[in-house]
Amino acid sequence: MASERVNDEAFVTLATNDTYALGCLVLGSSLQRVHTTRQLVVMITSGVSAPMRQQLVALFDQVVEVNVLDSSDTCNLELLGRPDLSCTFTKFHCWRLTQFKKCVFMDADTLVLQNIDDLFDRSELSAAPDAGWPDCFNSGVFVFVPSEETYRGLLAFAVTSGSFDGGDQGLLNSYFCGWATEDIGKHLPFTYNVVSQAFYSYLPAFKQFRSHVKVVHFIGAVKPWHQPFNSVTGQVSAFPNTGHSQEFLQVWWNIFMECVQPNLDPGHTGIVGELASLSLGGGGGGEGGSPNKRDDRERKLQWEQGQADYMGEDRFDNIMARLDQKISDTKQHPVGEPAEVMSSQRLAEGDTGAEK
Ligand code: UDP
Ligand code: GLC
Ligand code: MN
Repeated sequence: MASERVNDEAFVTLATNDTYALGCLVLGSSLQRVHTTRQLVVMITSGVSAPMRQQLVALFDQVVEVNVLDSSDTCNLELLGRPDLSCTFTKFHCWRLTQFKKCVFMDADTLVLQNIDDLFDRSELSAAPDAGWPDCFNSGVFVFVPSEETYRGLLAFAVTSGSFDGGDQGLLNSYFCGWATEDIGKHLPFTYNVVSQAFYSYLPAFKQFRSHVKVVHFIGAVKPWHQPFNSVTGQVSAFPNTGHSQEFLQVWWNIFMECVQPNLDPGHTGIVGELASLSLGGGGGGEGGSPNKRDDRERKLQWEQGQADYMGEDRFDNIMARLDQKISDTKQHPVGEPAEVMSSQRLAEGDTGAEK
């Protein structure tokens, strides 16, 4: 028997562009799959396109437009290795959702494997420890109570004290600084926000507790939507060294191909367009049907991780040839950016936040 829906509690996520919106769609679908009784809310900014908004409206109970809040703290974000995260202050808008009594915020790169409605029994601010510094909480999943006062408090704190990591997590940890010591009830079990580092830093624990995992968080610059997907076999292959588990990536992709991809607009630019043209069993012009494009992205990521193939494809004369080609392209298209440069830039940026 289906349980009654609860109207004054919600799961809330955020996308400032269409690429992260893909993550929101998979997250929302994963919450539906485990039969949540709570409302689904997505906060979006002007960077999310009209066709993508239509997809979000079809899945989420509320789509709430908010302004981008930007920390512009490039210095600390460089330290974190994620200059693309300055807009994560936008998350703070979730405290303005005062139509709800209690909410759970979830990053767009999280995936729910088991029902987590019991989180609404917790109080603000409950969150799981961060795997990098367990006396801090990870701000990819947290329980909060909407309040204009807290929102204003967070903004005032941002102005006076800033964020030690340049993103929302540093600021939230300073603001809710009692979290580490005051109330163990506010420490969510790690299984509510399992980050990829856990797999390689403590594999025996992962094996032991695998069946307890409720939420997977694909933390880091390389997200599930960047991974090479083979549309013939329906399998995703994990990029090396991202730490993401193949098994969980496959769950993300299964949900994506079943619930999200069939509704995407093939006229879309960037990664969303590439993924929209995938078709299971082969065909289509997307990553799965275009091994060269996939190889290119894989190479680029390996390069960024310091693993250039100096003796092979990334050798000096190949790089020179590529540069020559780009220069001659630019000469042929002096006004504006040539299409090819645009697309290779998107690939270079991993399309993580470049969409306007
Ligand atoms: N986010 C966004 N646009 C961006 C970057 C981040 O909408 O360009 C949102 C999105 O909900 C994302 C969250 O902010 O999940 C935090 O960023 P991310 O998950 O990339 O950080 P990580 O967990 O990898 O540190
Ligand atoms: C973390 C969190 C993420 C947050 C980022 C910036 O790694 O996973 O949610 O946006 O730090 O503070
Ligand atoms: Mn995240």
